[in-house]
Amino acid sequence: MATFLIDLSPADMQRRLRDALAVYVEAMRYPRGTEEQRASMWLEHTRRHGWKAVAVVETATDGSTGEAPDSPEAIASAPMLGVAYGYCGAPDQWWQQQVVAGLRRGGTDAGRISDLMTSYFELTELHIRPSAQGRGLGEALARRLLDGRTESHVLLSTPEINGEANRAWRLYRRLGFADVIRGYHFAGDPRPFAILGRSLPL
Ligand SMILES: CC(C)(COP(=O)(O)OP(=O)(O)OC[C@H]1O[C@@H](n2cnc3c(N)ncnc32)[C@H](O)[C@@H]1OP(=O)(O)O)[C@@H](O)C(=O)NCCC(=O)NCCS
Repeated sequence: MATFLIDLSPADMQRRLRDALAVYVEAMRYPRGTEEQRASMWLEHTRRHGWKAVAVVETATDGSTGEAPDSPEAIASAPMLGVAYGYCGAPDQWWQQQVVAGLRRGGTDAGRISDLMTSYFELTELHIRPSAQGRGLGEALARRLLDGRTESHVLLSTPEINGEANRAWRLYRRLGFADVIRGYHFAGDPRPFAILGRSLPL
């Protein structure tokens, strides 16, 4: 088995959308059917300014046996173990509007809000199949996604977990993400979320 980190173009994401959504649903332990709800949104996101997506795939090649290396085509269609994407934040995006509302509610002053919202990359999705977690693949995907970004910082939201005791929290803290808002309720979602951020480059 050999794993590869690859960039996904918008066309690649369209072609591999079912695989990417399957990784997402499995990683987040969402109910089946969530894929259909999310498909059009993930495609719409590919058209956003600064959109970038990366994936980790696994081929059947065993590097130690001298087998011929995988062709680019084989890598591009190999089973997907993980996927991540994001784009430039902008004022017309629901997520930014929600975060600004949360910052205002928490008493953050207008200058700080403007600093936070002016130049950021939203790390929208980052998921590794449960069977492939704990091998550093999530960190590798995050690093590849954030590599070379020109925004001044990166923001993300993640569900609150007691004691920050899950892989996502450990990864974000290890990468130096700090609190922007804690215990935030996005409209229409009963779960509390944290908004985390850090400066770029990583
Ligand atoms: C969050 C998530 C993307 C992280 O991906 P991951 O590959 O599991 O995590 P990492 O890259 O951080 O893996 C590092 C872990 O592997 C271990 N590890 C083993 N070998 C390693 C290596 N060669 N390099 C780095 N870490 C290694 C580390 O000790 C670390 O352990 P820890 O998580 O207990 O601290 C993934 O766990 C996931 O999809 N979770 C469910 C969905 C989710 O929560 N997504 C984020 C929502 S906002």
